[in-house]
Amino acid sequence: MPRTLTQKIIADHLVAGEMRSGQEISLTIDQTLTQDATGTMAYLQLEAMGVDRVKTDLSVSYVDHNTLQMGFKNPDDHRFLQSVAARYGIVFSPPGTGICHQLHLENFAKPGTTLIGSDSHTPTAGGIGALAMGAGGLSVALAMAGHPYTLPMPKVFRIYLRGRLQGFATAKDIILHLLGELSVKGGVGAVMEYDGPGVATLSVPERATITNMGAELGATGSVFPSDDNTRSFLRSMGREQDFVPLRADEDAVYDREIIIDLDKLEPLVAAPHMPDKVVPVRELAGLKVDQVAIGSCTNSSYADLTQVATIFRGRITAKTTDVLIAPGSRQVLKLLLRNGLLEPIIDAGGRLLECACGPCIGMGGSPCSAGVSVRTFNRNFEGRSATLDAQVYLASPVTAAYCALHGAFTDPATWGTEIIRPDLPQDIPSIRDMFIFPPENGHEVSIVRGPNIVPLETFPPLPDNLTLPVTLKVGDNITTDHILPGGAEITSLRSNIPAISEFVFSRTDKEFVRRARKAKESIIVGGENYGQGSSREHAALAPRHLGIRLVLARSFARIHMANLINFGILPLIFARPDDYDLVAPGSTISLSTGHIQPGQPIPARLDTGTTISLIHELTDKDIAIIRVGGLLNFVKASTS
Ligand code: F3S
Repeated sequence: MPRTLTQKIIADHLVAGEMRSGQEISLTIDQTLTQDATGTMAYLQLEAMGVDRVKTDLSVSYVDHNTLQMGFKNPDDHRFLQSVAARYGIVFSPPGTGICHQLHLENFAKPGTTLIGSDSHTPTAGGIGALAMGAGGLSVALAMAGHPYTLPMPKVFRIYLRGRLQGFATAKDIILHLLGELSVKGGVGAVMEYDGPGVATLSVPERATITNMGAELGATGSVFPSDDNTRSFLRSMGREQDFVPLRADEDAVYDREIIIDLDKLEPLVAAPHMPDKVVPVRELAGLKVDQVAIGSCTNSSYADLTQVATIFRGRITAKTTDVLIAPGSRQVLKLLLRNGLLEPIIDAGGRLLECACGPCIGMGGSPCSAGVSVRTFNRNFEGRSATLDAQVYLASPVTAAYCALHGAFTDPATWGTEIIRPDLPQDIPSIRDMFIFPPENGHEVSIVRGPNIVPLETFPPLPDNLTLPVTLKVGDNITTDHILPGGAEITSLRSNIPAISEFVFSRTDKEFVRRARKAKESIIVGGENYGQGSSREHAALAPRHLGIRLVLARSFARIHMANLINFGILPLIFARPDDYDLVAPGSTISLSTGHIQPGQPIPARLDTGTTISLIHELTDKDIAIIRVGGLLNFVKASTS
């Protein structure tokens, strides 16, 4: 039977389940990655599983989020991560080496493999033909311990690319166009599989920009074929031996097809505060720009920054605009340096930042109050920049560079004729020596734990009956940033759950933590797409620490729902979306949880006397996990 590329990779890794969309499948995982903000917890969980060495072909621990070392917390975490990596057989990427997805693409990702990472932009590696998925840290810890990764068999959408990018349109504009078409929910339950003659016109870094932001579509993953461009990229990186050709069968059947004419695309931006609020740049002409930030795992490749340097050469950026540039990796930085491309950036007034996530996660580089910030990043959720009233626009490096020069959005028709589309040089300097490869004998390594590393707590099983108050009711599109905001102070507490829990919903409702603690156990009610945004498992773990037993919503984002299950929180859905209006903050909900079955609705009684029907998407295994208090308890019970 003819297969899509996604189905081929899944078939090669399938250990359980049927490849019918929506059915639960389990896959062997070849590679894992973690970043520091989620990694500390993932490694505490790995330790709790009692394994000796990781069982994957390759696991890498990157430090790219909390690289600011103001006080002991982050450096202590880095030491912990480095020692755990050595102990368990994991490659360690120290702070300053680069952003996890850029580094993984350059150094480790392979076509045809499976990769899960405790970061929602792990699908970036789909640009090289890997089936790469974001997952909770606990799922990543399990994969490292040799367990298969379980997920619903995704649908496959064919994104058929025709023609070739023209003028000032870039790969970023392809994915912004798709976000405008499909919305932030448009990819839920699906892998975006790119196909068509336009694919051959895109380099691997361009493809990676597109697969990176597939996460903003809510997609399980995004994948490009592995072709001559893939081989050429791998050759540039000194690892042509990792190339395998890979493409869908000619007559493969897809669940949906979307055609994009590349020649018709123009520069686009996503307006505040959602990646799918997409408009042409020309419609914003004249809007003053206070800050431009170029970098992030979406757009920090050598090609991206070469375009910026070329646009900047011989010019000076506007005096009213702060211009921040963070290369994605040391390799990108070295190449820019070697090829004389840093000078035009510095001469133009660009402020060079460390090779790290930086402003994308609110680690410095915040815009001024109510400032307009044009960023080449993937997310513009309210408050993510750490300036609550900032207006963040998402754009390509080309658009951002012109905004920096003019101090305002301008019509691309005034920018000149066409941008350069640089090829990757073939003689790329290696940064392999920057990685710390684990010693053969990890037993001799002692793990370094500072006071910011707080041991995991064990959560109790789910009782058969719940009668709990609603301590918070929120609206649609609540992101993991709403649940647990980013920023230097908060993210430095990722390995300290009691401390970080004080910040749950701190920017939405300052009294929530006090109410939840007082209630001891309680319920959160949400609208559509609850938990969208990131794989941040602390957005489930910290509410669980505060006693949240049930989240009741109109719908859930996939990764967040998996995280809720992993930490023993019951994710239930209003069978009738309008019933959301019947539940008031402070009201009490009673339901029986002793007999939950897949596909069976659950009646719940409100304190008003009204009965509502709740549904769920839980499998037998999910139910068993929640019942014992979470995945860690489940794994311990099944291996003891
Ligand atoms: Fe880092 Fe931002 Fe990507 S936080 S991993 S650069 S989405």
